Amino acid sequence: MKDLTPNKADLDAIEIASIDEIRAVQLERLKWSLRHAYDNVPMYKERFDAAGVHPDDLQQLSDLSKFPFTYKNDLRDNYPFGLFAVPREEIIRLHASSGTTGKPTVVGYTANDISNWADLVARSLRAAGLRKGNMVHNAYGYGLFTGGLGAHYGIERLGATVVPMSGGQTEKQVGLITDFQPDGIMVTPSYMLNILEQYRKNGMDPRDSSLQVGVFGAEPWTDAMRREVEAAFDMHAVDIYGLSEIMGPGVASECVETKDGPVIWEDHFLPEIIDPKTGEVLPDGEMGELVFTTLTKEGLPMVRYRTRDLTRLLPGTARSMRRMEKITGRSDDMIILRGVNVFPSQIEEQLMATGGLAPHYQIELYKAGRMDAMRVYVEAEADATDELSKTAAARMLTKRIKDMVGVSTEIIVGEPGEVERSQGKAKRVVDNRDAD
Ligand code: DLL
Repeated sequence: MKDLTPNKADLDAIEIASIDEIRAVQLERLKWSLRHAYDNVPMYKERFDAAGVHPDDLQQLSDLSKFPFTYKNDLRDNYPFGLFAVPREEIIRLHASSGTTGKPTVVGYTANDISNWADLVARSLRAAGLRKGNMVHNAYGYGLFTGGLGAHYGIERLGATVVPMSGGQTEKQVGLITDFQPDGIMVTPSYMLNILEQYRKNGMDPRDSSLQVGVFGAEPWTDAMRREVEAAFDMHAVDIYGLSEIMGPGVASECVETKDGPVIWEDHFLPEIIDPKTGEVLPDGEMGELVFTTLTKEGLPMVRYRTRDLTRLLPGTARSMRRMEKITGRSDDMIILRGVNVFPSQIEEQLMATGGLAPHYQIELYKAGRMDAMRVYVEAEADATDELSKTAAARMLTKRIKDMVGVSTEIIVGEPGEVERSQGKAKRVVDNRDAD
């Protein structure tokens, strides 16, 4: 793999500013943002008043803990535009997340918001090792989903050539990558595995592709998956994090020279880690729920938004700003099986360490009598489809999950192609516990 470390001279000054400078920028912007939310969004005025706090009470960053949280349901309750802090006419873009239940959550951006977002995605791509003049294949879905257009504007802002492919049509993806010779790819990690599979189906060696770096996010993925994709394509794989309510892709992104967790772009977003049960703020280094307050957003300011993503804050390394540990799960994805907490990523880690199995999987939860039970559907590698290999692999994975994760599972090893393929974000868990 080529050394893609960016030149210091190309970074934004704030990326390598002193911590004191960064905190000063944050304090000034936080005061503005709280005031903006309070003055322009009725919900924030009501909430702050009810909690007995006022934007003027914020004298230092730690005073933020006195302010109330905002939840995903608040967006639903104020559907569609009730939390916008500017007149609708000033909103130049909407996005929405479908959500599994109820109304979608709608987010809106002013022209300045869109410009800041493009800047931050461009900064993220630079951190990934891409630069002006490169070409980037964008396979995040275009449309209401924030991934496609969010990435698109950032690629253009970097001064790179964007290939606006969107998701799906895997054969065509491989064809265009082969013909256009892009330097980078932006896509969900689970869909990257489909692209990899297509290379192999075509009898092509993915190591011959032009790709030097993949910028993967929108869903949890493990370091084991990183190693697999890096080895398969002989390219770097870095993690990009974000969520629609805060901005979209590019809230945090990993540096190619360290690959040690996404750097949070703290000049635009203030992170906190809290105990999800008590709401208490936890010190850096402790694991808890990630909470964000936007510092510059005009259209949809968010105060102490509960992401439900679980991680910890880590000190800066390649940049001055703090990092977040690679996200291994959301509180929503946590499976509690006979009292043991399990995240799909823990299953993924064990699967990747087991020989003879492809990296595709889906977890099914069901009732065995009155008890909850878990089954994991996996696939044999193309060269290990005989019954003996399949039985051995199933036995090995069952043992690894029992030993390392602490739960008993049934492993079903299917033929290559049997596990449902992701077209964007993979559906890792199917819950049939209520089924007859
Ligand atoms: O998925 C934003 C995005 C698009 C990020 C493309 C990166 C690339 P939403 O659809 O609103 O936005 O989903 C946000 O996805 O709260 C996390 O649970 C999860 N997520 C996003 N990035 C990562 C990541 C986009 N790198 C939700 N690792 C978030 C783990 C991620 N989970």
